[in-house]
Amino acid sequence: MKIFLDTAKIDDIKKGVEYGIVDGVTTNPTLISKEGFKDYRAALKEICNIVQGPVSAEVVSLDSKGMIKEAESLASISEHIVIKIPATFEGLKAVKELNRKNIKTNVTLIFSPSQALLAAKAGATYVSPFVGRLDDISTPGMEMVSQIVTIFDNYLIETQIIVASVRHPLHFVEAAMMGADIATIPFPVLEKLMKHPLTDIGIERFLKDWESVKNK
Ligand code: G3P
Repeated sequence: MKIFLDTAKIDDIKKGVEYGIVDGVTTNPTLISKEGFKDYRAALKEICNIVQGPVSAEVVSLDSKGMIKEAESLASISEHIVIKIPATFEGLKAVKELNRKNIKTNVTLIFSPSQALLAAKAGATYVSPFVGRLDDISTPGMEMVSQIVTIFDNYLIETQIIVASVRHPLHFVEAAMMGADIATIPFPVLEKLMKHPLTDIGIERFLKDWESVKNK
């Protein structure tokens, strides 16, 4: 399973890439607004240069014409840019046209398997089911992912599934168990994935025992 970082924070992206396990980045207007960039396009370019993999940037138009215009402008920033399009009928129209123009798309704000299937049919490169936000309203988000995986397997659909709105390591592990293509995760969740108290205790004990060998 590929790992994307769900952030626009340059320092965290650099750290993740240095760890050697980050394949891409996803952003959205909320994540971008948190970073207070003076030059949004320059920031996207910098993220693309660091990651050298898919970087999702979201459009804010609601009509397909506006989405396509924004998408063309964003896509000119770097070959790595993927256009995030909301899961609406206007979005589907934009995805169809952007696919024809060889511009990659990530259909976002997906909350049902039917939305994912329609996005794939329109030609989406990626779909992003939001699991945490479904959990928030007492609906199991990962069940939706399992259904999308089954549907895409049934019809050999090539659209890749990005598990998004990941809130904790269990979402990540379940995504991998289900065979999702990608999980996009906030940096604090990435840090939790590698942390284990028994690893820390083990290192401490090895170092202590090594000291006694050294002093003999
Ligand atoms: O990838 C989508 C993500 O940014 C939304 O996460 O935690 O706001 O539901 P959250």
